[in-house]
Amino acid sequence: MSGVRHLYVHLPFCAHRCGYCDFVTLVGRRGSHGRYVDALLAELALEDHLLANELESVFLGGGTPTFTEPAELERLLAALPPASEVTVEANPETVTPELARLLLRAGATRVSLGAQSFQAPLLTVLERRAGPDAVRRAFYHLRDAGFDNISLDLLYGIPGQSTAALESDLAEAIALAPEHLSCYELEAKPGTRFTHAHGDDLARQAEAMETYFELVVEALVGAGYRWYETANFCRPGRQARHNLAYWLGRDYVGIGIGAVSTVGRLRWRNRPSLGGYVAALTAATAPPRELEPLPEQVRSRERLMLGLRLDEPVAFAGLADAVDADGLARMERLGLAERRGDGIVLTRRGRFLGGGVTAELVAETPAKSTL
Ligand SMILES: C[S@@+](CC[C@H](N)C(=O)[O-])C[C@H]1O[C@@H](n2cnc3c(N)ncnc32)[C@H](O)[C@@H]1O
Ligand code: SF4
Repeated sequence: MSGVRHLYVHLPFCAHRCGYCDFVTLVGRRGSHGRYVDALLAELALEDHLLANELESVFLGGGTPTFTEPAELERLLAALPPASEVTVEANPETVTPELARLLLRAGATRVSLGAQSFQAPLLTVLERRAGPDAVRRAFYHLRDAGFDNISLDLLYGIPGQSTAALESDLAEAIALAPEHLSCYELEAKPGTRFTHAHGDDLARQAEAMETYFELVVEALVGAGYRWYETANFCRPGRQARHNLAYWLGRDYVGIGIGAVSTVGRLRWRNRPSLGGYVAALTAATAPPRELEPLPEQVRSRERLMLGLRLDEPVAFAGLADAVDADGLARMERLGLAERRGDGIVLTRRGRFLGGGVTAELVAETPAKSTL
């Protein structure tokens, strides 16, 4: 048996909660970091039988993994199985020269730095702790430590962000020469402080988002980055291998509170409670989870939807039932999708329209397909 080759590890702790964020996070809790790492390692031991002998990717996401007590973060990294790509998400204000060296020493091969913007007023709107100088400094600390694979996260559509400010953010990011960039449209997540305060602003600027998206793609492609996924850009060969595994519909195991695993026909999601998680794993039992059976058609449809985010064709093999043949013909006529080799890919115009085109291509029921 080949086994699962991708492992996600959730580190939920953050210095504070940014108003726009709805990830599974916990503020502070310095006293709990050690017990949480113990629990993570206990969950890893429980799930070890699912993993391949050699992993392709490990991703430490958050929360703010680099807010975790440094000794605990190092202990965790040292205990995780080695992988070709080991990514750690970092917040700029946590990155010191010592922390950058610790990450490299402990086996991280890639850092994903949450820059979000280089404009002080916009970072204030986002309630970020780091200002523009801290973002740049963090990047240089990582380079100086020896990281040759750094990704920057940027947000666009921040209330008050003009086109010129977005252009300036893109120019600042390009000037740092990261190997990879993720550029996300800021989403108003239901129930967040941010949506309460700025939801109307975001709704008002919804139409401008298409222009912003085009601007992001033009600037980054113009600077020589490959637009390999809807929101992701890279230098040649520097795709995020972990994220690519999600988009290719591969199996993955996730450990930690709120973490999701998808293995074969089953998906499970750990409950987001720290107390329940630590208590169960201290007793060497599986943490509280929600299980979701995944019939083959559901997985095929997911594979198609995710695969259409990429710039390379999604292979028909095994997915023919998931494709709406009439929808595909319509999208081809409109120049929004095309068949290439043994698969389908969205055209440039189709990629800008994104979700709407994908919805046309994915069969609602397997019976709809006649490919
Ligand atoms: C797990 S999050 C946070 C990582 C890290 N703690 C930070 O704040 O930079 C990863 C990325 O998701 C993006 N993100 C978070 N909330 C978002 C939202 N409401 N809309 C769009 N992107 C969001 C941000 O770009 C962020 O860097
Ligand atoms: S630091 Fe990152 S994970 Fe934590 S609250 Fe802010 S956006 Fe969310």
